[in-house]
Amino acid sequence: MPFHRLVDLVLALLMLLHGGEMLHANRESTVEDSFLPGAVWNDTDGQPIQAHGGQVQRMIVPDGAGGKTERYVWVGEDKRNGHTGNPVAVYTSDDLYHWSFQGDVLRSLETPEQMDSDPYFQALYGSCTAEEKADIFACIGQDKVMERPKMLYNAKNDNYVLWFHSDGSTEKNSYSYDVGMAGLAVSDSPFGPFRFVGRYRLSQCPPGQIDCYPTSKGEARDMNLFADDDGTGYIVYTSENNKTLYISRLNEDYTGLSGEEYGVDYVRIFPGAMREAPVLIKEDGRYYLMSSSTTGWASNEARVWSADRIMGRWRNDGNPCVGRGQGVSFDTQSTALFQAPNGRWIYGGDRWNSTNLSDSRYVWLPVTFENGKLQIHWEQEWTWEDGA
Ligand code: GAL
Repeated sequence: MPFHRLVDLVLALLMLLHGGEMLHANRESTVEDSFLPGAVWNDTDGQPIQAHGGQVQRMIVPDGAGGKTERYVWVGEDKRNGHTGNPVAVYTSDDLYHWSFQGDVLRSLETPEQMDSDPYFQALYGSCTAEEKADIFACIGQDKVMERPKMLYNAKNDNYVLWFHSDGSTEKNSYSYDVGMAGLAVSDSPFGPFRFVGRYRLSQCPPGQIDCYPTSKGEARDMNLFADDDGTGYIVYTSENNKTLYISRLNEDYTGLSGEEYGVDYVRIFPGAMREAPVLIKEDGRYYLMSSSTTGWASNEARVWSADRIMGRWRNDGNPCVGRGQGVSFDTQSTALFQAPNGRWIYGGDRWNSTNLSDSRYVWLPVTFENGKLQIHWEQEWTWEDGA
């Protein structure tokens, strides 16, 4: 049996022993105005929501009448294709319970010829050189990994910037996560179409510090984005063969890094801690960075670090999950933290189904801050309006 299946099995057994009530995998979402963590969650067209490894935020979007408005936007992986070539899907909502599908906003290519024959791709890439087209296909062909997409609205340029984990095999290694890069796509609308711009290695371990994976510099895999109150953008990602998290400041366009100076442009968080699935937020002037351990699709124990300054000293706040199932994050992996209209914080986790990825579920739970520490408790069914 492959090791990851064994890990899945052991974790499933642990869940049965310690958190039986969390295994309502086949519950249907019958109540419309509440969260049912782990249940099938349909969009307003009655289709299961496909926004895995995603991000939820309140965002400026077109109002459909030529102006702009603010709505909740959920960006994530549409996993109907399976493991690779996942288009990026976007949904919108006003109440966080009912989500309308706005389309697959960044699409992968079945063939390189599509860039000349299919009007959708022709409009995006038709004017590229043959060399550029070959490169685009090598990055976003349907056999490539496109995971954990995240979006920011860039006020300076009035456009939308999407970063994602862009991966695939290389000539040296058939392992589908050998590329280890951050992909970038840009659009004038959050509803797409997004044009793939390129993929990049990011910040590198500076001289004088111990690089946990010196043979492959600047790797970027699981990632997230964060915009601070002053509009400064950050990309947070796992690097050094998933051993060290990095936070790098973005340039004013959010399309690249601000620079290469350690402590000014980027910081490494607890080198060698082996964390991924990062989420960065700010609450009451303090920054919180949540992450998972690195066990593939299998759930594991979450951890939070917090700091007063992004480039400053980070404190290990331990496991944020409290109660039965805390050792496996209530059978989830972190992907989002966001605020409800009344200011209440919500944790968004993925409950992956490694044998049928498109049937992976969403587990949204209430977040509290106890003595400056982020905490997450299990709820069978809940609303953000209650208990605030
Ligand atoms: C997880 C990661 C997912 C996906 C998966 C593949 O650790 O968070 O986004 O890459 O591994 O095994």
